[in-house]
Formats: sequence, C-alpha cells, structure tokens
Amino acid sequence: MSERGLELAREKMASAGVAQAAIDTFSRFYGILESGASGLIREGDVEPLRDIPRHADLTVSEGEAADALGKTAIIKLNGGLGTSMGMDRAKSLLPVRTSDGETYSFLDVVVGQVRAARAATGARLPLVLMNSFRTRDDTLAALASYGDLAVDGLPLDFLQNREPKLLADTLEPVEWPADPELEWCPPGHGDLYPALHASGVVKDLLAAGFRFASVSNSDNLGAAPDAEIAAWFAASGAPYAAEMCLKTPADVKGGQLVVRQDDGRIIQRETAQTHPDDMEVSLDPTRHRYFHTNNLWFDLQALDAELERTGGVLELPLIRNEKNVDPTDPSSPKVVQIESAMGAAVAVFDGAQVIEVGRERFLPVKTTNDLLVLRSDVYDLTDSFRLHATVPAPLVSLSKIYKTVGAFDARFPAGAPSLADATSLTVDGDWTFGAGVTVHGDAALADESQARVVPDGATLTAEGVR
Ligand code: UTP
Repeated sequence: MSERGLELAREKMASAGVAQAAIDTFSRFYGILESGASGLIREGDVEPLRDIPRHADLTVSEGEAADALGKTAIIKLNGGLGTSMGMDRAKSLLPVRTSDGETYSFLDVVVGQVRAARAATGARLPLVLMNSFRTRDDTLAALASYGDLAVDGLPLDFLQNREPKLLADTLEPVEWPADPELEWCPPGHGDLYPALHASGVVKDLLAAGFRFASVSNSDNLGAAPDAEIAAWFAASGAPYAAEMCLKTPADVKGGQLVVRQDDGRIIQRETAQTHPDDMEVSLDPTRHRYFHTNNLWFDLQALDAELERTGGVLELPLIRNEKNVDPTDPSSPKVVQIESAMGAAVAVFDGAQVIEVGRERFLPVKTTNDLLVLRSDVYDLTDSFRLHATVPAPLVSLSKIYKTVGAFDARFPAGAPSLADATSLTVDGDWTFGAGVTVHGDAALADESQARVVPDGATLTAEGVR
C-alpha cells in the first residue's frame, strides 16, 4: 500500500519537475513516516541549555561590526501560507502598520529594515527570500516597487520545493480535481537546505564575497539586521548559531534546543517530539529557560560544504503535519504533510552555537491575537522600520470567531483599538469594534450569543463596555 504511495508521490514530483534533492528528502521522510518511528526525544536523555552567551553582554568594536555586517546576507523564509490564520498566500503581504497615511505590509517592514541598515552602515546586505509556489508571484510583484533592492546581480528570491499531500489513511498522494494546486504543499522550512542546494544561491553569495547568512521568518518583524550579532558570530568561527530568548511564565512554547547527553550535541526538540510524560517538564521555564526564535546564522562556507556532502539532503527529523486538503474546508479529506524544521539542522553542524537575545528580536505573528497587538499603539514604527514596544505587550485572547484574517479584519474595520493601557484583552463571542476604542487594564467582553458592537469611542475595562 505505502510502497505504492511513495512510488506515486515520486512520479508526481518528477513529472512536476521537482528537484532531485527534494524528491530524495521526501523519500527519506516517507520511509520514516511509514515505519511509524516516533522520533521522540526523552527528557532523561537530554540536558537543558545553560550559561549561554548574551547579546546584551557583547562588546563589539565598530570596525568588527561593520566588517561582519558587510559580509552578511539576509535570508527570509517566506514560503509558508499562514494556514493557521486561514490564509493561502504569503502572510508577509498582510498590512501590519499604517503610519502617516501609508500602509506597510510585513514585507515592506522587512525591506525597510534592510534599506535602513544599508544606509546606516554602508553594508551591501542583500535580501533574498525563500518563496514557495504559492507565495512567489505576489511577493515579487510587491517587491517590484523597490527598484534599488537587488545587489550585485544576486537574485531577490529562490524557490522552495513542492511535495504531494498524502491521504492520511493510505499515504497515497491526494487527488483534488476541484483545485489541483491544493494537492501540493511546501515541505516546511527545513526545505531551506534542498532549496538552497537546487538554486545555487549559497554559491552565488560566496562568489559575490559574502561569508555569513542571517536567516529568519518573514513574519518575525523583530529579526532586523544586527551588526553586533554578526560580529559575535564571525568571531566565534562557528558554522551555525541559533538565537534564543528567555521564556517568561506566559511562554508555553515548544520548539526548544536541548543538549544530547551521549555526545553533548545541541539538538532541537519540537513539541511533536516530546513524550506526553515529559511535556510538563519540557515547558517548565525554570528548567528549559530558553525558546528557539528561528533566527539563525550560517557560515556560508560551512553550509556549502554540508550541502555538497549531502546533496542537499540533511538528516533532519520528520514533522508529521495533519491538515485538510483544503485548509479552509474542515470537511475536506484529512491529509498528512511531510515537513521538517530548519532549526533541526543544529544537530548536523559540528560546533553549532547559541546566543541569548532580547525579546525585541522575536515579534512573530502566528495568530490574529498577535496581529492585533502589532497593529496597535503598543508598538511604534521607527524611522529605521524597527517595531519599538512603548509598553509591555498585553495578553490578547480573541474567540475562535476571529481566527481567520478575513473574519478578524471584518470585526476591526477601523483598525486596532488602543491597547497601550491594557494588561489583557479577552474577547468571547462576536464583537465588532468601532473607531477610537480604548482598552484599559484587564478588559473582557463576554459572549452574548449574538453579534454585538463596541461603539465608536468606547472604553473597555474588566466590567465590559463603557
Ligand atoms: P510557520 O510554519 O510558523 O508559519 O512558518 P506558516 O507556514 O506561515 O503558517 P501556518 O503554519 O501555515 O499557519 C514560519 C516561517 O517559515 C516560513 C513561513 O513563511 C514563516 O516565515 N515557511 C514555512 C516557509 O518558508 N516554508 C514552509 O514550507 C513553511
């Protein structure tokens, strides 16, 4: 049954012109999936990260910083579809800020940060996006307005691979004649490696005189170019480094790095690789103090050597992702998407390092809760396109009704309310916000079992609408 599944999937990929490294990577994962191997990493076999260097403690001379940034390229992962927010296109094209009548998308902010860093430091700082077949056209069209973005003939993007979604019960490629595009998915950001290998971008960057790459998610607006971290990384001589943040009690996040006891290597442990019995301790911020930001640094020479050695097929653990073939239709057939995480490559690189960075380098948008805070007056957009938190960010929890971007936008037609004086905002039920709403303290709106309106100019507090 599943042998046939793999054969069909390989044929489908080959006839769609998918690169060999991606077909081989898929086949390796398919074998793991079929064997039912859990890939669990038990708590007893690992140690937490301890005593890691801190960005805040770095002492870097201006010369070192300028030199390292001058050799750095910025790579942004932009292939994901934001399905958790009901999207099927690049999340980075969503509007995130309006300032002086101008609306900026995530992508505009990313470009703004790169251009500001170029202007401030003189670094060439190429920006290269990893797009997928679903994000490329829109993204390149949006970048077309930035005539000066390309550097030294380097490409503005490279394309990641596509792979068939597999029917959950047979593991055969799904057929979806209603929209054949939906038979395919991008294979997670671990696809960075086969995609870099197939595109030749690492060699292009080396040939243009670059030595380091700073890689991050395009939905993390905190990951701006940073000359100090570049200098630290250059001086470390490490092939690879990951930026980590200290957890706060509110951070119940998976995706952590741990030290494997038997060989002392740093490895990544995703939530899916955590045994249920270990879940509590893995989330305990007094034991595992850091979470992984997905901001990574690569020595391009070491990366090139690894891609050459493996033909682009790095030994990463499998992530089995179950979704519906049409992510917007929960009644469509259940499929398995074979994915992997870019940060799992930490185990592959000998001498990989970690650094603690401040929370300002981690401003991701995974949910519409995050989007509301980012669009609000909690953040200022500075002239260098940094998002500066004016106050501690409140905890926002919107009801399920707000889960998709479409439903969310429809309920905030006048933009985000003022959250600068809020500690938390909990919205149960279905409320549409008028213009000029201000939220104070711990505010809550109860479910009134019908759609309600928060009037223009209202104040929200623990007692409800005033
Ligand atoms: P996530 O997996 O957190 O977000 O990716 P997503 O894929 O955008 O959203 P969901 O899971 O479908 O809701 C983190 C970063 O990795 C990129 C995304 O674009 C985002 O910047 N990514 C993800 C890729 O570039 N390719 C992929 O195949 C998956």
